[in-house]
Amino acid sequence: MCGIVGYIGEQDSTPIILKGLKRLEYRGYDSAGVAVLENSHIEIRRDAGKLSHLEALVHDTPLHGKIGIGHTRWATHGEPNARNAHPHIGSTGEFVVVHNGIVENYLALREELAAEGTEFHSDTDSETIVHLVEKFYAAGSNLAEAVRQTLRRLKGAHGIVVMSSREPDKIVAARMGNAGGVVIGLGEGENFVASDLPAILEHTRRVMFLESHQMAIVSKESVEVTDLDGNPVKLPVQTISWDPVAAEKGEYRHFMQKEIHEQVRSLTDTLAGRVDFDEGKVILHELNLDAEQAKKIKRIIITACGTAAHAGMVGKILIERIARIPVEVAIASEFRYADPLVDEDTVVLAISQSGETADTLAAMEEGRQKGARLWSIVNAIGSQAMRIADGCISMQTGPEIGVASTKAFTAPLIDLYLLAVYLGDLRGTLEAGERFRLVQDLMAVPALVGECLSREPQVKALARKFMNMEHMLYLGRGINNPIAYEGALKLKEISYIHAEGYPAGEMKHGPIALIDRDMPVVALAPDDPWYDKMISQIEQALARGGAVIAVATDGDNRIPDLTENILWVPKVPWLLSPVITIIPLQLFAYHIASLRGLDVDQPRNLAKSVTVE
Ligand code: AGP
Repeated sequence: MCGIVGYIGEQDSTPIILKGLKRLEYRGYDSAGVAVLENSHIEIRRDAGKLSHLEALVHDTPLHGKIGIGHTRWATHGEPNARNAHPHIGSTGEFVVVHNGIVENYLALREELAAEGTEFHSDTDSETIVHLVEKFYAAGSNLAEAVRQTLRRLKGAHGIVVMSSREPDKIVAARMGNAGGVVIGLGEGENFVASDLPAILEHTRRVMFLESHQMAIVSKESVEVTDLDGNPVKLPVQTISWDPVAAEKGEYRHFMQKEIHEQVRSLTDTLAGRVDFDEGKVILHELNLDAEQAKKIKRIIITACGTAAHAGMVGKILIERIARIPVEVAIASEFRYADPLVDEDTVVLAISQSGETADTLAAMEEGRQKGARLWSIVNAIGSQAMRIADGCISMQTGPEIGVASTKAFTAPLIDLYLLAVYLGDLRGTLEAGERFRLVQDLMAVPALVGECLSREPQVKALARKFMNMEHMLYLGRGINNPIAYEGALKLKEISYIHAEGYPAGEMKHGPIALIDRDMPVVALAPDDPWYDKMISQIEQALARGGAVIAVATDGDNRIPDLTENILWVPKVPWLLSPVITIIPLQLFAYHIASLRGLDVDQPRNLAKSVTVE
């Protein structure tokens, strides 16, 4: 998610904005910029990379003004460079905007504006916003009304702040949907705007939080809040007691817990702009693929490491089942040395949160050298795995700070589901009715994840019961077999408990000898085609004295007779069940590690991105 800071008052806004942006660095970003009103003229400084680059630029070419806005960008559309960095200025040079979110209909808006003669100077979706404000202002609206009219044209979720030399006594902030917050800080003879509390807490602790479809007209003496029709809205003024650093995690103890809870939004964001629910269609422009090319694909090799590889294992089942294309999953550190049989009818699909994992990049290079088409599913915009691919699907989860990957696991699960539907549609192996149903099934997923998150207290109680175990076995079958691997990885990498994921059907071939009262078994037994097999698996584990923790679907009336340790999940079509069944396992691992007092966000020996072999 991007960071936003705005100031209006009697002080020089530049240092306030730069320091505020620094407070938001934890959100992760790849470029930054600041704009101030200096002698009724808009001055802008922007640069790619870390804030230190922007600070150096401002030092060399200072800008001062009592009203200003700043931004740290986590790119979703357009490379992370100075040209695409915010703030974005309009054609007249009199309007400037910073934006957090995704303009889902930006292509249509760009075409409309370009047809009217607007020249664009960036590759971003955000730039359409400032040109629309300018257009409506020129048609006779004042700044606030021009922003309202603009917001009515935008699809998606947004946080925006606009400033204009035409009305130099105010900044206008607005929020649509859930693209990060918009908070107004109330000072004495000065006021602040930010995307998150840490940016302004050192100046004021009196704040108001804009809700969706609300706008604030902020001058140095007043704040006027309205809805998008211009009707006044009364917002409560809250006093924040958090310290700035704590606020970076909001009400969460660790970034990992925050990111687990961000999955309702991150799954919404990864769907954004890719699904037409009315038509029941998926469009993945990023792959630059037509039907003829799609029909030529003979097989897909998914290559990744760790959690990303577990997502790939789910992807294999999704793509084979829906698109009827043979898929193999190759661990990148093996694939890179396997002299694989790959040709131009093969797609090598890399999955990587960081986009910089050495093994995964080497595997991509191996595929490229053997003539394969190269795709990737990546979170970090501008990373190598994004740049070197022939087509890249961005996870769009925003930066993931916790070393243990959570939202960057569920997002690729959805992206792989979208890919399967898209390929099946292009290749004609998916009839329209089935395609429509598969797309409709996606709609409920973010809310169902939210339902799983609401059950955190029950998960925490189970974590407390099992927190001192030294070993744990995770068993799953079919599409939930990879979730057994992922659940075990989550536990071992942050709690240091020895945990092993296993295909449940394999237990009788040896590993069942492990099970006794000191080897609890986590059994993934949701309502899916392998349910009955998992029930017998649970019975076998119990017969050997093992404690069983079962992931079960709401309403199940067999499992409560077998064990009291149940992680309940809502019902979901089985092709989407991994997105749901992993949530309680993420929380289970998190709470065990947290209860054990460990450094959840920075586990020993681990790095967020393994950029070396
Ligand atoms: C997962 O929780 C770990 N942090 C690790 O397995 C990670 O998934 C792996 O290193 C791959 O990282 P990437 O997705 O950035 O390529």
